[in-house]
Amino acid sequence: MKEKLNILAISGSLRNQSSNTLLMHAIINLAPPNLTFEVYNGLNDLPHFNPDLDVEEGPLPVQNLRAQLEHSDGVLICTPEYGNGVPGTLKNALDWVVSSGEWLNKPTVAIAASPSPMGGDKAHASLLLTLNMINAQVLHEASLTIPHITLKMNKQGDIIDSETQHELENSLLSLADACNQMNN
Ligand SMILES: Cc1cc2nc3c(=O)[nH]c(=O)nc-3n(C[C@H](O)[C@H](O)[C@H](O)COP(=O)(O)O)c2cc1C
Repeated sequence: MKEKLNILAISGSLRNQSSNTLLMHAIINLAPPNLTFEVYNGLNDLPHFNPDLDVEEGPLPVQNLRAQLEHSDGVLICTPEYGNGVPGTLKNALDWVVSSGEWLNKPTVAIAASPSPMGGDKAHASLLLTLNMINAQVLHEASLTIPHITLKMNKQGDIIDSETQHELENSLLSLADACNQMNN
C-alpha cells in the first residue's frame, strides 16, 4: 500500500470566485492524511481539441495534462453546469485524453455543484458519460450533485452544511480505498 496517494483535483470553472473551485479546496481540506492533492491549473491553457494535433507529443499544455494524469493515483472533479451541460473548457480537457488513455481505470470522483435546486444534474450525467467512455473508474456512490451550493458553503469556502460535509468525507474515503485497491 502506498503511504501517500496523489489525487489530481480539477475545477471545471475558470471564474475567480467560483463556488466549485472553493468547494474543491474545501474537499482537499477534509481529506485524510494519506491523500495529497495536486490542483490542475491548466484548463485555460489547453488549445481547442483538434484531432490533427492529437499526436504523441501534442501541444505542451496537453502534454502537461497527460503527465499530471499519468502520475496521479486518482482524480477529483468539481464542476458547474452551463447551459444544461458540462462547461466547454472541461469537456475540451476530457477530449484531449480520449485517445491517449491516461485516465484508464483511474478512480474518479465527479461532483457537480450549483446554486440551483437541480445541483447541476445534467452536467453531472453528461460528465459521467464521457468518463465512462474513457474508461475512468467512476466511483458512482461517491460522485455527488450538490444543489443550493451557496447555502451549503460560505464565501470563505467553509462547508456549513453538516450532511454535505459528511457525504464529502465519505466520498474521500471511497476515493482513498479505490486508489489503494488499484495499487495493490
Ligand atoms: C451562461 C450561464 C449558464 C448557466 N447555466 C446553468 C445551468 O444550465 N444549470 C445550472 O445549474 N446553473 C447554470 N448556471 C449558473 C451556474 O451554476 C452558476 O453561475 C455557478 O455559480 C457557476 O459555477 P461556479 O461558481 O463554480 O463558477 C449558468 C450560468 C451562466 C453564466
